[in-house]
Amino acid sequence: MSSLLDALQSKALAELASIADLKNLEDWRILYLGKKSQLNQALRSLSSLSIEERRQMGAQANQLKALLESSLEDKKKTLQQAQLTGTKQEYFDITLPGRPLTLGRLHPVTQTIREICSIFSGLGFQVVEGPEVEWDYYNFESLNIPPGHPARDMWSTFWMDVSPRWSGPVSQGHLPAQASPMLLRTHTSPMQTRVMEKTKPPVRVVIPGKVYRYEATDATHESQFHQVEGLAVDEGITLADLKGTLYEFARRFFGSDRKARFRCDYFPFVEPGVEMAIDCWVCKGAGCRLCGQSGWIEILGAGMVHPHVLERVGYDSSKYTGFAFGMGVERMPMLKNGIDDIRHFFTNDLRFLRQF
Ligand code: DAH
Repeated sequence: MSSLLDALQSKALAELASIADLKNLEDWRILYLGKKSQLNQALRSLSSLSIEERRQMGAQANQLKALLESSLEDKKKTLQQAQLTGTKQEYFDITLPGRPLTLGRLHPVTQTIREICSIFSGLGFQVVEGPEVEWDYYNFESLNIPPGHPARDMWSTFWMDVSPRWSGPVSQGHLPAQASPMLLRTHTSPMQTRVMEKTKPPVRVVIPGKVYRYEATDATHESQFHQVEGLAVDEGITLADLKGTLYEFARRFFGSDRKARFRCDYFPFVEPGVEMAIDCWVCKGAGCRLCGQSGWIEILGAGMVHPHVLERVGYDSSKYTGFAFGMGVERMPMLKNGIDDIRHFFTNDLRFLRQF
């Protein structure tokens, strides 16, 4: 037994000396110190020896075990040191610069939507979203734009290939929305109807989302873009509330020294309808390229919700009034940062996106 342990020792140490990497070192450890190693087996077979022999062999086997373990540790340190300093083939250079992690960021459209919504949240509005594929009823009819109405011309759009089929009930002679054709919504305004159908006044919501139009694409037109819609309905809401709310928004978004201008405009679902402009922050109203020499920049359409729109969802228009507004999202950073082409937002050119 003793000679067996002697032989094992010289073999193990000789092999250890020739090891040059950590992988082989681990193999060596398993072979000579692992559970199934000869040394372990020798230690286990001690019980079959006489007391005298057991004491002697046990001591020798334990000594050998300690020697192999400490030799293993020494070798490991030497190999690890060699790795760090590059004196062996298997090394890495700790002086090399690290690989930079590329961090993503929010798209400028998302950033703008969040900024707009957080301003309106601060003014007591709730943020809700709605479907991009919409029934004709919500997109047009419920907003006072029946078939054949000239306002439909402004919103030529993408129709879905689902012909209206309705075999369900017809209440009071009216077909339900689901019996009308479907389209990609041309504006976020259909959500006004959807929100009011589900809620009793008071209502205060903003609705961000994507809209679609059948447009020839150029620097200021895209077939898809984003809008934020707003709606407030309650007892006693007046045009003064509309002006105050939107003026406060403009000051928070474009700067506290902004002036606002409201002029009459036409949208079938509001009466009266207005267009809101703010004074040009580049020329301070004197006239420049950004504002087309007018000194004013239009930022949104708005108005007092038409009584028919309220009645259609079952609101009593003699009791409740409200205002609504809608703004183009891309237009805001375009104006703020002098971006001259709306297509930049959708071509995913990192040189553009990284600037925001
Ligand atoms: N939906 C209109 C558009 O896309 C914008 C708009 C105008 C929304 C007036 C409104 C509003 O809520 O009151 O051009």
